[in-house]
Amino acid sequence: MPIRFNPFTDLSRDDPAALYRELRDEAPVHWSPEGQVYCISRYDDVLAALKDVRTFSSSAMQTVLLRGIEVPITPRYALMLFRFLLKTRMNPLRIQKAGNLISLDPPRHDTMRKIVGRGFTPRSIAAWEERTRTIVADAISAIEAKTRFDVVQDLAIPLPTTIIAEMLGIEPSLRNDFKRWSDAIITVASGSVVADLPDSGAVESLGELYAYLRERVRERRRSPEDDLISLLVDPKQDGVLDEFEVVQFVVLLLVAGNETTTNLIGNAVHALLDRPDQVEIVRGEPAYIQALVEEAVRFDSPLPMVFRTATRDVAIAGTTIPRGAEVACLLASANRDERRFEDPDRFDVMRETTGHLGFGFGAHFCLGASLARLEASVALEAILPLLSSFERSTSEPELIPSFFVRGRVSLELISSKSEADPRA
Ligand code: HEM
Repeated sequence: MPIRFNPFTDLSRDDPAALYRELRDEAPVHWSPEGQVYCISRYDDVLAALKDVRTFSSSAMQTVLLRGIEVPITPRYALMLFRFLLKTRMNPLRIQKAGNLISLDPPRHDTMRKIVGRGFTPRSIAAWEERTRTIVADAISAIEAKTRFDVVQDLAIPLPTTIIAEMLGIEPSLRNDFKRWSDAIITVASGSVVADLPDSGAVESLGELYAYLRERVRERRRSPEDDLISLLVDPKQDGVLDEFEVVQFVVLLLVAGNETTTNLIGNAVHALLDRPDQVEIVRGEPAYIQALVEEAVRFDSPLPMVFRTATRDVAIAGTTIPRGAEVACLLASANRDERRFEDPDRFDVMRETTGHLGFGFGAHFCLGASLARLEASVALEAILPLLSSFERSTSEPELIPSFFVRGRVSLELISSKSEADPRA
């Protein structure tokens, strides 16, 4: 039977490992008629596509993801969009033309990456370690006082959102609004509200966020402070971004940075709960924390796929992808390819993970990888000692209903002591 596979619906399942294996073995370049996209699933082929930015343009990172949130333009929705433009005072033509780092190709991509990269050098990220430790320590002491807690809500969500808000210089009094705005983007970007987008309140929240950021950008231009927005608009640097480009970039940071890191922490804890031997290895040797983070990204990749557009006819594994076609590079499948990783469906913190594609590869390699690694390693190190005295409240926590991000909506743990002894 020929394989029928649609990445936009088939990957929201608990364990797609068997599906990935079938694709790699039977249809390494698979055309999905329902998804209207070619799917590349073997490690070598995905890597080659990510390396070849001339043949595989990143424009699909915009077109495919926007396709995912297309909703019928009802009069009510049109009015809402009109209000959005009015509130943010943005020119729709400018919005359409504006490039976003993740969907631009060289040379414009490389110029923009050089500018925004200043805020993400290893040195500037290392400066956030102490603050990360404080936020995690506060979260853990609140958790320790409880017999039941949620890894996602109580630790994995607040950590990246707080850090990014502080990096951007968002006023503490607006943190709750910031969280709401950032949730709105994440909800829209993860494709979980498609049907009721007009009623979700997300578009209004996005309008508020854009309007707020536009004002901050203007303010930082007039009087810079020690934050990321000031760095991006600093006229002393070459090639500063314009107002709209900075706003777009900040929105990209929220999408690309928050939920992915949240899911990395949640996915790692989820994997560890079934594997007490792995918890013991890492507790016995803290140097394995970094290895745990990398293995979690490889094993249950928070961003399972990225998209590209073929700029010419290109043959891969005997199949020709026609010019103009959209392509899904299945990073999560590449990371489970037995041609590259031995016994790939085994979670093993002691394995060699070098070369995994969970953070992408090449020109678009994740800009926030050092930040994600820092946040996840501090959070996991702190939560490890608790794992032996807590267990999941449900054996299969619900997955986020999205093809683009992979993680659990919540991961509630209850103290094993409180189960055994109701007085505890
Ligand atoms: C576990 C956490 C994360 C994972 C798994 C992840 C994964 C990825 C992947 C696979 C790409 C490549 C996209 C492509 O090739 O089209 C990417 C790009 C990107 N990521 Fe991350 N990411 C994570 C965390 C973060 C964080 C914390 C930030 C920033 C705060 C961030 C910002 C970005 C940006 C700006 C890009 C675009 C880079 C470019 O196009 O040059 N990411 N990420």
